[in-house]
Amino acid sequence: MSKTYKIAILPGDGTGPEVIREGIKIIETVAKKNDFKLDFTDYDLGGKRYLKTGEILPDSVTEEFKKFDAMYLGAIGHPDVKPGILERGILLKLRFELDQYINLRPVKLYPNVETPLKDKKPEDIDMIIVRENTEGLYTGAGGFLKKDTPQEVAIQESINTRFGVERCIRYAFKLTQNRAKNNKLTLCGKTNVLTYASDLWQRTFNAVAKEYLQLTSDYVNVDAACMWFVKNPEWFDVVVTDNLFGDIITDLAAIIQGGMGIAAGGNINPEGVSMFEPMGGSAPKYTGLNIINPIATINAGAMMLETIGESKAAKDIDNAVIKALGSGKIKSMSAGKMGLSTTEVGDLIASLI
Ligand code: IPM
Ligand code: MN
Repeated sequence: MSKTYKIAILPGDGTGPEVIREGIKIIETVAKKNDFKLDFTDYDLGGKRYLKTGEILPDSVTEEFKKFDAMYLGAIGHPDVKPGILERGILLKLRFELDQYINLRPVKLYPNVETPLKDKKPEDIDMIIVRENTEGLYTGAGGFLKKDTPQEVAIQESINTRFGVERCIRYAFKLTQNRAKNNKLTLCGKTNVLTYASDLWQRTFNAVAKEYLQLTSDYVNVDAACMWFVKNPEWFDVVVTDNLFGDIITDLAAIIQGGMGIAAGGNINPEGVSMFEPMGGSAPKYTGLNIINPIATINAGAMMLETIGESKAAKDIDNAVIKALGSGKIKSMSAGKMGLSTTEVGDLIASLI
């Protein structure tokens, strides 16, 4: 009997539903080919529901998600809702509550995709960033003192636990070991200034590195990383870093692989349920125009299948994306400039599976 996976679908806001539709098209196609089934359940979390009912993310819904094999998210963010409310209330809350402690962001320049980096080729841009996803400056720890007075104090605390840092670093070492590249793991921090947080990261990294002597371990300060990502991206294989540094450097990394149209991410709880999403936002101005690039979401779908154990199907998607890009039919990775509609890009990739 073929296996059935339960997938929670969160189309979300703006162009989210349009890209998720194509993502589903692709994973269904590949499921048929590889003889497994997908059982989808839709969740209408996002701006529309919030504006209508005031509900952001009911606790009971978070509980329900734990019963799924994976979650597939379009985008969160609505122009009529103050920025941050939905992002924190849905996206970050899910990452925290479901303990999705790894944010995995592969950075790969596919053939025929334009990079803003002069003379860099697909073989130069192929790394994976492991971002800690449940601690650091994202926990919301801190507060105001004397708010709205000239003496106001704002404190935003970076929480780094040995437990949280170590599990992230261990994940990164394992990933590096399983990846057929340079077998190098680079810790990205700011040890010259963050004498507590980055120090804990570095000590933990050095301790775990002793168990992986066959791998190369390296260190880079986050400011220098920004420079080297642009000048010598080929130096990097796997990079591990904290939540905020990871947020920042993965946007930089996304643009060198061709932009938000193609960059995917996974919020991973290796022991629980994981959530996959395109890195881009809800892009409200493109809503309903059928011009948004669905490839990032399709790539996120491949990551999802890989994580639930359908590696062959994930590879099939990757190959189809490479073929579609190689065909030259997709003119650009940018919304409105693809030369094809959102649906047509999905159809093209589906036809190549
Ligand atoms: C991301 C996003 C989120 C983050 C926002 C929307 C809260 O930028 O997934 O990188 O900061 O983590
Ligand atoms: Mn970000």
